[in-house]
Amino acid sequence: MPRDNSVGASRSETRRNRSRRSTLWIFSWVLGLVFLGIVLVALTNHAVNWSSSDKYCGTACHSMMWVTAAYHQSPHYVNRVGVRASCGECHIPYDSGHATATEYVKLLLFKADRGAKDVWYEAKGSIRTKEEWEKRRPALSNTFESYLTQHNYVTCRGCHSLQSFGGSRSHMKLVIHQGLAKADAYDCLQCHADIGHVYEQPSSKADGWYTGEQAVAGKKLFDDSCSKCHGAKLEGGVGPALNGVAWAQRFGDTKLLTIWGEIKGPMAEYSGRSFTTQQSLDILAYLLQQNGLAAGNHPLADTRELSDTLPEK
Ligand code: HEC
Ligand code: HEC
Ligand code: HEC
Ligand code: HEC
Repeated sequence: MPRDNSVGASRSETRRNRSRRSTLWIFSWVLGLVFLGIVLVALTNHAVNWSSSDKYCGTACHSMMWVTAAYHQSPHYVNRVGVRASCGECHIPYDSGHATATEYVKLLLFKADRGAKDVWYEAKGSIRTKEEWEKRRPALSNTFESYLTQHNYVTCRGCHSLQSFGGSRSHMKLVIHQGLAKADAYDCLQCHADIGHVYEQPSSKADGWYTGEQAVAGKKLFDDSCSKCHGAKLEGGVGPALNGVAWAQRFGDTKLLTIWGEIKGPMAEYSGRSFTTQQSLDILAYLLQQNGLAAGNHPLADTRELSDTLPEK
């Protein structure tokens, strides 16, 4: 029957129309949700980047002005290669641009936790004056240092790889850092104490650079291991002289860390020995004594004290 047929046809037409409409409806929803998702991800990412920026970390909070000033004195703010490390690149464990999905979630949790604490302390106004800042600084510093140590300096290693030191004039740096890479734990700040922030402070060497006993212990080690190449009076031989003009030209205005690195790294190798940190510091004390630097009551006992520079030549 034609009439019935046409009714059937229009019914199935309506059904098809309806299902087309509902498909369109679902499709628009999905599209809408995807779009919303993209906007949310973009906003989150923008918020993550903005809240990790130097502008936000360094200036948004009044309480951060002193640490920011100290960051401006560090080699990570201005340096010979013109690459700046931002607050976030040292302080926040994952770079949002390269994080895997799980790392990104961890990053969001990390930021939520830190952000909440920062806002809380800033709102409480717990650090308003320089004195309050000085009082809080050691604790804040320790917290971050132990975070870095627990995570094996993950943020530093994002830019500096222990395996990648090299080049013709970098033998010492290579020996020192590759030696560390073999240990399962190391502490960059043990040798690079004020690498993030440099505060004005009186030189720790005002009362002498080492003790007399140290220099005596150092002399003994030098005579046994070094004098065959550098001379019994440091006058030079196979190796360069380690006193007088030669010393002043080579090491004037140089960090103690550089000389210590030579002794602990390549010179220990040349002597066929390995020195403990204290032994290598004793040898350094002896070299300082022979070059006219004053002894005192405070022994040179920690690589953290090697950031002082020698007087200019
Ligand atoms: C090159 C890496 C690096 C950069 C860049 C950096 N920091 Fe630090 N920051 C450190 C290290 C390492 C410490 C812990 C040792 C110390 O006190 O210097 C630290 C410590 C701190 C502390 C604890 C107080 C203190 O002085 O020890 C605060 C707060 C801080 N940083 C905030 C910032 C802010 C804000 C910025 C950017 C304006 C920034 N940092 C940039 C590495 C960095
Ligand atoms: C964003 C990348 C970046 C991060 C993160 C970073 N650094 Fe650096 N670092 C640099 C650059 C760039 C220089 C300057 C290199 C130069 O002058 O040749 C530098 C220089 C240094 C120097 C030599 C300083 C000097 O006196 O000349 C040391 C030591 C150092 N970084 C250690 C660290 C440690 C420790 C950390 C972690 C707390 C760290 N860096 C984090 C990029 C970075
Ligand atoms: C046992 C001590 C020691 C430790 C620990 C140490 N370093 Fe060094 N580092 C040195 C010495 C020594 C030098 C050479 C100093 C110089 O001549 O300026 C140096 C130099 C550097 C330089 C500068 C290289 C250049 O040519 O300017 C960088 C960057 C650096 N270290 C990064 C690191 C990082 C990152 C860590 C931790 C993963 C680390 N160091 C741990 C001893 C150490
Ligand atoms: C086998 C010979 C030899 C022995 C042993 C040796 N040195 Fe050296 N030393 C050299 C030579 C050669 C140089 C020049 C730089 C180089 O070749 O690495 C040098 C460089 C140095 C430097 C850097 C001087 C500069 O002008 O850069 C110091 C510091 C130093 N030696 C101290 C020591 C001490 C301390 C010992 C003992 C622990 C020692 N050396 C053992 C041969 C030696």
